[in-house]
Amino acid sequence: MTDASTAPKAVLLADYQPFSHVISQVDLAFHLSPRATRVKARLALSPNPQRASGLDLRLDGEGLTLISCMVNGVAVHATPDASGLTLPAALLPDGAFVLETEVEIAPEANTALEGLYMSKGMYCTQCEAEGFRKITFYPDRPDVMAPFRVRIEAEAPVLLSNGNLVGKGEGWAEWHDPWPKPAYLFALVAGDLVAHSAPFKTASGRDVALNIWVRPGDEDRCAYAMDSLIRSMRWDEQVYGREYDLDIFNIVAVDDFNMGAMENKGLNIFNSKYVLASAKTATDDDFGRIEAIIAHEYFHNWTGNRITCRDWFQLCLKEGLTVFRDQQFTGDMRSHAVKRIEDVLMLRARQFREDQGPLAHAVRPDAYVEINNFYTATIYEKGAEVIGMLKRLVGEAGYAKALDLYFDRHDGQAATIEDWIAVFEDATGRDLAQFKRWYSEAGTPRLHVHEDWADGTYTLHFTQENPATPGQPVKGAKVIPIAVGLLNPNGDEVVETTVLEMTEGRQSFAFTGLSARPVPSILRGFSAPVVLERNVSASERAFLLAHDTDPFNKWEAGRGLAKEILAQMVTDGGKPSADWLEALVRVVMDDRLDPAFRALALRLPSDDDMAQTLFLSGYVPDPDRIYAARRRMGDALAHRLSADLPRLFNDLDVPGPYSPDAVAAGRRALRMAVLDLLSRLDGGKAAEALSQSADNMTEEVGALSCLLSVGAGDAALARFKARWSDNGNVMDKWFALQIGLAPPAKAAALTESLTSDPGFAWRNPNRFRSVIGALSANHAGFHNASGAGYRLVADWLLKLDPLNPQTAARMSSAFETWRRYDADRKGMVQAELQRILATPNLSRDMTEMAQRMLTD
Ligand code: BES
Ligand code: ZN
Repeated sequence: MTDASTAPKAVLLADYQPFSHVISQVDLAFHLSPRATRVKARLALSPNPQRASGLDLRLDGEGLTLISCMVNGVAVHATPDASGLTLPAALLPDGAFVLETEVEIAPEANTALEGLYMSKGMYCTQCEAEGFRKITFYPDRPDVMAPFRVRIEAEAPVLLSNGNLVGKGEGWAEWHDPWPKPAYLFALVAGDLVAHSAPFKTASGRDVALNIWVRPGDEDRCAYAMDSLIRSMRWDEQVYGREYDLDIFNIVAVDDFNMGAMENKGLNIFNSKYVLASAKTATDDDFGRIEAIIAHEYFHNWTGNRITCRDWFQLCLKEGLTVFRDQQFTGDMRSHAVKRIEDVLMLRARQFREDQGPLAHAVRPDAYVEINNFYTATIYEKGAEVIGMLKRLVGEAGYAKALDLYFDRHDGQAATIEDWIAVFEDATGRDLAQFKRWYSEAGTPRLHVHEDWADGTYTLHFTQENPATPGQPVKGAKVIPIAVGLLNPNGDEVVETTVLEMTEGRQSFAFTGLSARPVPSILRGFSAPVVLERNVSASERAFLLAHDTDPFNKWEAGRGLAKEILAQMVTDGGKPSADWLEALVRVVMDDRLDPAFRALALRLPSDDDMAQTLFLSGYVPDPDRIYAARRRMGDALAHRLSADLPRLFNDLDVPGPYSPDAVAAGRRALRMAVLDLLSRLDGGKAAEALSQSADNMTEEVGALSCLLSVGAGDAALARFKARWSDNGNVMDKWFALQIGLAPPAKAAALTESLTSDPGFAWRNPNRFRSVIGALSANHAGFHNASGAGYRLVADWLLKLDPLNPQTAARMSSAFETWRRYDADRKGMVQAELQRILATPNLSRDMTEMAQRMLTD
């Protein structure tokens, strides 16, 4: 273990203080060169009236070679340390002054992809959260906001930065961003790029030039991203009353990017996989993600940029809210029911998992070591759920009023969760003090329900349990909005959706005047991020699956049934019950239902989801038994449906040219789910035929997946590789699919052999995730009793860590579930985590992750 003296130091929310100075103007001049870029910064500073006078000026800076430093035009002697530069108060004039620095950096040597770096010959930046300090000496914190003017000199034809273009010539360009912004929103791009452009007129009639910049040859794969951008801009005007505020909006696609995309003011930078799409190269899911991420980053222009975060503890202020907004947008564009089910699947798979393990933390944490480790499912997905609950509690009108007040009151500011809560209190008159626990307390509440029935009165009794999480042994009762509807025994709804507001540890709610004992539909729309615990008979679940009017709970009933049966099959090694098969078949065959919904109903609970569920119910999950049971379940379904599968498969064919719209995508999703079942019966014959004839990536990947699942994928894999070897985004799928679907005992060996493939460009985060991430996502493969999966993942994380600690540390959360498993597996993971922690020069990022995962 690392002792206290070498342990990285935590940053505490309680220590917040405003910065010593304010900056009224930033002027940057870049002279770009791969090994010796020069950056001149001119900062107009003055003492911050909110702080005492006569303070030193401390600027952040990492890996910068200081060339010169001047205060009011006079050279000063200043020696940077490892994390920045201090100018003692004695060197500074009393009032306002100008600081000019020049530094040298080497973007070509930047493998961490943070700060200014190069991707395939293109210069680009990634500054959130703390990357600007790798570009110049600066107070790299979100509450220091200033207007930026940027001059770029480089040999590249396209030179971009934030804001509006104010001048350009051969080898140079100047940009001006009039909106004061924190340094993390700074961006610069230079390279040989081409634009896919479109005009946009805002609701108030201002013209905006929209450009998506890509490498030459990629311009024919930008149309869907542009269409998504235009729909996002219109939606934010119509739904939130928010217009875009510059003359130009640029998006750039880069291949080497740690995250999905980044909302830099007026110059969003995207991982190319979330921009480039055509029918032939992108699946329906890819199109859906592109639409959502383009919207997300665009929506940040108001929720993040115009109103930013005071400090990184407030990250959910922008991320939770922006995820909530992009979820609303996708629901409006596609289907609210399907979107809600997908979001809950993801919440449970990632956030509940996090909340139940050693990495659990509050939506607003109060300490961190490395902020990059806190861009988590809790900040994002639970952060969005908390806003959904607020909206449910105050209603549509209250929410709209609160949001208008938020924008009015805080535009141009760096705000906090307290500010956010206050606008809801002021707009609606509600006291939200107790609600705030959702922000400060980690852990997924468990909601136990029992009921009684007498004399026409039906009563629901709820008990909430708030489990201990690391550092938070005891917590208070949460405000839980519980949406409930009641059905009578013939399936009609007798009480439509009502939101019960639970505020106590135990609470009962009575429904009177009923003529028969009703069947309750509880937590409709998944109205709160809790685990619902209720003894429900299989027949009641089947009844709700058939009759519930709430689409989420209709799906949830089938899901609960499937999980219960699968859990039984894991423990007794048996077959699924005929009742479940019949109930599911009725939904799958019901062509009045949305095919996308039927496809979701057909999707079996994932292995990791089952491991989580079993562990929560007090079992030690056995990965091999879960894997085997899930396969038996699919086989049984395939046999039950054998007479219908070929016809369903043919009927669901979507005629005409490919379109990524939600209706067509839903049909294809169901068709691919049907093909997966069919393949279990025909050994992959139909899938092989589709794999050869498919004219779109959804079916090409769908067919390949079916073939891999039944162990008949070799020929299709070879064809796929030959066809797509020059397309990086598509080849990522080739790597990920075969590893993700490899049989448990072979997954690690296959992964290891693919790490020797000449195409395994492991410094590229997408490729690294497609190989190493795909192994950690193959539940039974990763957790194989040999320990080979654990070892291989740890080896590669250690290899990546010195080059790209952010991506390596994020991926280490593969190990967060280790305490669920048996003693042998636990011992093996613990040994790997200890080996990681004992590695010399381990990054702060990885050190924090390994330490947290090892701590009880
Ligand atoms: N601001 C983030 C990007 C980011 C994350 C920068 C972490 C630095 C560190 C951006 O708005 C974002 O949230 N991107 C998501 C995708 C989004 C649709 C949830 C991402 O990159 O995964
Ligand atoms: Zn975001």
